[in-house]
Formats: sequence, structure tokens, C-alpha cells
Amino acid sequence: MKDYGPGTFGELNADDYDALHDPGTTEAAVALLAELAGGGRVLELAIGTGRVALPLAERGLAIEGVEASPEMVAKLRAKPGGESIPVVIGDMADVPVEGSFDFVFLTFNTLFNLTSQDAQLRCFANVAKHLKPGGAFLVEAFVPDVAQFRDHRSLKPVHLDFGSLTLEAAIHDPVTQVIEYQYIRMTPDGTRLTPLPMRYAWPAEIDLMAKLAGLERENRWGGWDRSAFTAKSEMHVSVYRKPRG
Ligand SMILES: C[S@@+](CC[C@H](N)C(=O)[O-])C[C@H]1O[C@@H](n2cnc3c(N)ncnc32)[C@H](O)[C@@H]1O
Repeated sequence: MKDYGPGTFGELNADDYDALHDPGTTEAAVALLAELAGGGRVLELAIGTGRVALPLAERGLAIEGVEASPEMVAKLRAKPGGESIPVVIGDMADVPVEGSFDFVFLTFNTLFNLTSQDAQLRCFANVAKHLKPGGAFLVEAFVPDVAQFRDHRSLKPVHLDFGSLTLEAAIHDPVTQVIEYQYIRMTPDGTRLTPLPMRYAWPAEIDLMAKLAGLERENRWGGWDRSAFTAKSEMHVSVYRKPRG
């Protein structure tokens, strides 16, 4: 999608991110992430407004972040505790941080915000470089559902209430695995367009990216509650570990 860079998501979404992007899984995610992180040094890629990082910091975790959008980080900084989380502004494909971590994670399908296979591979390779031996990388992502497209196109209402309607329009390119979304929010004040390109990867492709980076898959669940991953799972929470050497 032309003109869409790493910082564009935040430019377009920071103001109403917290109000409009609640996946309803934050509590369960925080519980599992806290357990897996143990007491070590933790890095969240694409930390956003701190939806997950702030409750983890409140639990005493030594958490740091990488984030492409200064607008999203400004929202994080404005919240109680948000000033004290170290955040590097940059592209998560580069993992632009110093030193090594015990636990790195990437939630809410955000791996797919890297819109090429090369960028996703680079992200895995750089995460592996910044993991301590024995450290782990957790990825939460949706399972692609290409059956939702007809002629590689889809249009569906994703939210409606008394005063608003949000439609999701999407065009799918099965060659690049890129889906270009356009969210169309209509209210009495007018219509707002929020574009979002995503490059999906199948769970097996994500495993292969991890393997190429020298990481071994340790777990795959169908949800933050550690439910089994099955043919019906719409998302997965996958944990990859760096061998002790
Ligand atoms: C769906 S939000 C997730 C935010 C947070 N992790 C959460 O779970 O609420 C996606 C985030 O990824 C950030 N982002 C997108 N592309 C990025 C990139 N290439 N490098 C770093 N951050 C990126 C966006 O600015 C946004 O904060």
C-alpha cells in the first residue's frame, strides 16, 4: 500500500487506539506473559500505548519496548507508569535495542504489520540475536482465513451501534500474502477511512522463520488460556526458544 510506512499505523490510530482496539484478551495475555517472562529482562516489540506492557510493569517486570510510532508512545507516556518504561523508537524488523533479553514478545497480529516476508524474517533473525541462550520469543497471530474472500475481495460490517457503522473492506493478494484493508467508519459527523496493509503468514511459515533464525518451537496454543491449537483455531499463541548452546 503506497505511502504506508512503519509509523503510519500510529499516525492514524493513536488517538482512538485504546477505545477501538480492545481484543478482550488483555487479562489472560498479561497472566501468561508474566509467567513466561519469569523475573528476567523483557522486550515488547511494537509496544503501542502499553495495553499489555503497563500491567506487566505493574507486576514488577523489567519491561522495555520498541515502537515505530511516536504518537503511540506519547499515549503510553501519558498513562500512570508510562514514563518509566524504556522505549526505542524504531522499526521492529531491526530490533534496535542494546543487549540481550530473557523474553521477547509480539502480540495482536503485529508480526503481520511487517508487510513482506523479508521484513518478517529479519525480525525473527534480529530477535534471535537479542535473546539470551535459553530465552524465548512469543508471537500472537491470527490463522489466515482466505475462504472469507470472494474473488480475493471482502466487505463486512465489523461494528455498529446507534450512532456509527464500521465496515471492513479488503483486497487479498495470494501471491504476496498481503491483505490491504480499509476500515470505513461512518458517524453523523462524517466518514473516516483507516487503511491497514498486513502480510499474513501461516503458522507453519512462522515456524520456519523461527527455525531459520535458530529458534525451536516449544509451544503453540489456540488462545491465551492455553487451549489446544486445533483445525478450528482462529488464532495462535506460539513460543519459540533459543537453545542454551
Ligand atoms: C495492533 S497495535 C499493537 C500494540 C500493542 N502491542 C498491543 O498489543 O496493544 C500495532 C502496533 O505496531 C506498531 N508498529 C507497526 N509497524 C511497526 C514496525 N515496523 N516497527 C515497530 N512498531 C510497529 C504500531 O505503531 C502499533 O503501535
